[in-house]
Amino acid sequence: MTVFPPQLFAIFAFATCGGYSGQLRVSVDCMDKAESNLSIGINFAYPFRLHKVSFEAPMCEGRRRERVHLVGDFSSSAEFFVTIAVFSFLYSLMATVVYIFYQNKYRENNRGPLVDFIVTVVFSFMWLVSSSAWAKGLSDVKVATDPSEVVLLMSACKVHGNKCGSVYSPIWSGLNTSVVFGYLNFVLWAGNIWFVFKETGWHKGGAQRYPGSGSEKQSASFNQPPYNQPPYTQPAFNQPPYTQSPYTQSFNQTGGYITQGDLVQSSDYGQVGGPISYANQM
Ligand SMILES: *[C@@H]1O[C@H](CO)[C@@H](O)[C@H](O)[C@H]1NC(C)=O
Repeated sequence: MTVFPPQLFAIFAFATCGGYSGQLRVSVDCMDKAESNLSIGINFAYPFRLHKVSFEAPMCEGRRRERVHLVGDFSSSAEFFVTIAVFSFLYSLMATVVYIFYQNKYRENNRGPLVDFIVTVVFSFMWLVSSSAWAKGLSDVKVATDPSEVVLLMSACKVHGNKCGSVYSPIWSGLNTSVVFGYLNFVLWAGNIWFVFKETGWHKGGAQRYPGSGSEKQSASFNQPPYNQPPYTQPAFNQPPYTQSPYTQSFNQTGGYITQGDLVQSSDYGQVGGPISYANQM
């Protein structure tokens, strides 16, 4: 009841990216075997400030060692992605709570649907931008942590006669998943734009178009449970208790705003049953 697909997908996105840690392993085989180190492990993790990741490598000259740093800082795209995921998780959680428990306030002056619409548009745009930025960041991280690139950083490996190689490459499945979930979240939020848009009542003539389209209602309830559940369970205009409450008044204002014809609206509600008034709400 409390966790819907939008929240779940956001959690997957920031958990797979923010919780990542990887390792690679390289070998330095010096001409003088005694100085070799055939298993140099290098660990890195979110947020991928690789220039701060360092390791000790033999220099193949006596017993000397050098401290080598990886190259690049990919924290901005990784942190941007995780931030968007966390905020979109929090927002969709909050929107669910507001929609379920503060239905009246949500519809008051049409402000709830309006804010919801704008925020949804912004979040879907942000998901697209941050997923693309992170996809680019990830491909750069893959290059920067590729063992065959890392061996080029060690001075011993530039000397002819020493052999450097890759022992172990990082595992990328978790981070690849995070990018996929990022784009999936974009699709999810972009798809929601339409359903939130219907809530704003900006589309004219919705009342005539909706009564027949059952499939659309189904997809609506699948994509966006929080927004579509209450209309099913709350037939506000067909139950006597509601007609005397302030709820009716505020909705009538909204209704007038929607279709600029109170007469048409009220006759719709008066004569026909659930489906039409329900369609008007959508
Ligand atoms: C090889 O490098 C690792 C660091 O990754 C270090 O812990 C280990 O002691 C080194 N081995 C030798 C033989 O120097």
